[in-house]
Amino acid sequence: MFELNIEKSWCDAVYARSSVRKYTGAPDKEQLDRLGVLCRKLSWQGVTIRMFKGPGLRSQIRGTDVYAVIIAKQGTPMEVEGFMGEALVLEATAMGLGSCWLGAGYYPDIISRNVNLQNDEAVHCVIALGKAQLPAFAPKRKPLEKVCGMTEAQLGELGTWQKEAVLAARVAPSAINMQPWKITADKTSVTISEPTAVLYKKYAALDRGICMLHATVGAFKAGRKAAWKKVDGGYAMRA
Ligand SMILES: Cc1cc2nc3c(=O)[nH]c(=O)nc-3n(C[C@H](O)[C@H](O)[C@H](O)COP(=O)(O)O)c2cc1C
Repeated sequence: MFELNIEKSWCDAVYARSSVRKYTGAPDKEQLDRLGVLCRKLSWQGVTIRMFKGPGLRSQIRGTDVYAVIIAKQGTPMEVEGFMGEALVLEATAMGLGSCWLGAGYYPDIISRNVNLQNDEAVHCVIALGKAQLPAFAPKRKPLEKVCGMTEAQLGELGTWQKEAVLAARVAPSAINMQPWKITADKTSVTISEPTAVLYKKYAALDRGICMLHATVGAFKAGRKAAWKKVDGGYAMRA
């Protein structure tokens, strides 16, 4: 599980994105085709991602009517939704597009009708996509030491892949920027798990999946291929 061909361009994309809610237009035809191809590649391990153009987004998103819907088969860990969805976000970023994860910013009835949602399927999030009105800005995140209990230099002593994985994981987006993860790094692994107190649990597992994709991209940047294993309260990566 959590196996994916990582693109080199995503290494920069993890640091170059921020949520976009105002757009100057939808992606053009060529961009839509490229995103459509990627959605097909990302549709496995219990998740299907489909692109739509038309009504469905609430008014907090302005200037685009294009969005991707993440459809999960019953029993699929929510982390997979975050992992695959964030791959689409990073590819869109690398293509120069803006995006925004939406847990609440869409009309569920329209989306369910569009995707012809089956009884054993659920939609928890959609992703708005389009041409951003403004450039991305560095989003606020918890300090590195608070997230993993280590400085960048201490992480570097463990290994380059651990350092790059944790730095990329730290900047992952999450619902209402809660960053509901605890990151632990040691000589052999990087673990992303639930902290003891999570105020807003609804998307915590999905957020964790987003964070795991960022860690995977960080390890890739250091020349390593990540392998994830379920552990108590989260997932551990060896690379
Ligand atoms: C699972 C999830 C759900 C989200 N839902 C919404 C939403 O409904 N409306 C919205 O404006 N932003 C939404 N966001 C965007 C977050 O608010 C944003 O990612 C976070 O504040 C961090 O900022 P950044 O994306 O600019 O780095 C969501 C993000 C995630 C990961």
